[in-house]
Amino acid sequence: MRPDEPLRVIIGAGEQRWDGWIPTQREQLDLLDRATWAAWFGSRRADALLCEHVWEHLNEQQGRAAARLSLEFLKPGGFVRVAVPDANFPNAGYQRGVQIGGPGPADHPAADHQMVYTAPLLADVFTGAGFTVELLEYCDAQGQFHARDWDLNTGPIYRSLQLDHRNREGKLGFVSIVLDATKPHGEQP
Ligand SMILES: C[S@@+](CC[C@H](N)C(=O)[O-])C[C@H]1O[C@@H](n2cnc3c(N)ncnc32)[C@H](O)[C@@H]1O
Repeated sequence: MRPDEPLRVIIGAGEQRWDGWIPTQREQLDLLDRATWAAWFGSRRADALLCEHVWEHLNEQQGRAAARLSLEFLKPGGFVRVAVPDANFPNAGYQRGVQIGGPGPADHPAADHQMVYTAPLLADVFTGAGFTVELLEYCDAQGQFHARDWDLNTGPIYRSLQLDHRNREGKLGFVSIVLDATKPHGEQP
């Protein structure tokens, strides 16, 4: 990687690979272990972090600490794009699959889910850490789905309106809360 290239990092990537993004696994960057971040980043700071369906594996307190950790290792003006399951999506099968502790379907081991977020709670986790937050996709308390016209090229989320194979021909089969949390320029680098 050239030093002038933006540093864009996927946290908890699993099998995910996106052009221009460095995939990392929990062993390299653990949202619960600051020492892994200090070792991996050194004096570098990220332009962007991408974290799809990971934050629900932390409890709320851990999620809040992880938001503070992300803030610390981002450049001012940098952002973390987070996607998690949505507690307000009105689909019983989906809610069974994502519920805390499972049981999920065999291809979706939800047994280690610690949280099912609503958009206001997820937003509060990040504003509470010092971020400015913008919701890109979410369901409101009435189950109504909302999506901004956001650019996949700035950080793709598979489980989203545009990409997920379950969302086709006007059918909404699988949604996420998708949120951008931006580090204000006034923050310490
Ligand atoms: C459901 S998978 C999602 C994988 C990938 N992001 C995707 O969307 O296909 C959950 C991922 O979260 C990771 N994970 C769980 N706890 C983590 C932590 N404390 N720090 C970093 N990653 C974590 C797991 O290792 C796993 O890769």
